Amino acid sequence: MKKIAVLISGSGSNLEAIAKACEKNEINGEIKCVISNVPNAFGLERAKKYNLRSIVIDHSLFDSRIEFEKEIDKYLSLLKIDVIVLAGFMRILGKDITNKYFGKMINLHPSLLPLYPGLNTHLNVLQNKDKSHGISIHYVSAELDAGPIIAQGSIKVNSNQSISVLENRIHEVEHILLPEIVNEICNENIYLKDNIVIFKNNERSGHILKHYDV
Ligand code: GRF
Repeated sequence: MKKIAVLISGSGSNLEAIAKACEKNEINGEIKCVISNVPNAFGLERAKKYNLRSIVIDHSLFDSRIEFEKEIDKYLSLLKIDVIVLAGFMRILGKDITNKYFGKMINLHPSLLPLYPGLNTHLNVLQNKDKSHGISIHYVSAELDAGPIIAQGSIKVNSNQSISVLENRIHEVEHILLPEIVNEICNENIYLKDNIVIFKNNERSGHILKHYDV
């Protein structure tokens, strides 16, 4: 069974989706720790609810990003973590840690990358009157939101949709697709080789793309 670490900064609804799936044995893995860089993140309450070990590593207490990342790395190494999931983790990680864990660390991003890396993705979609929106799950590289894409989930954007409704629909997709992908990675059905995402037992090239009617 793979050892999973989930890094969060906020609400932690995706952490909860992974924790639920682990409980139901829908993920062949176990969350060994939740790391939050925000001391009062609501996700820490969710971690408690599922009896998960949580660690607060407050970035504001460190002199540099490198020191902050070394502290994160300390726990990832100590607990022999196999799969690291950035689920609403709002700090940019530098090249030392992303290189060390390249192929082991994935990120959830609320847009159809390469569209809209960074923040305010829902707002951008609405302002640009895009017809579709979605989420991306990708391996983390040193470049922000730009590592090899594993899977994307798309939705149709309804005209006059409010930002909060759109955001809720995006969350629904995240809560379905992220646990599925984490399980595939734990089962080694998806892995990274020479910078290319490999889907074992599959002729597939490119990444998984699913559409959701949520
Ligand atoms: C998600 O929409 C994720 O895509 C983005 O931040 C949000 C985190 O939500 N990076 P939660 O903390 O998992 O509820």
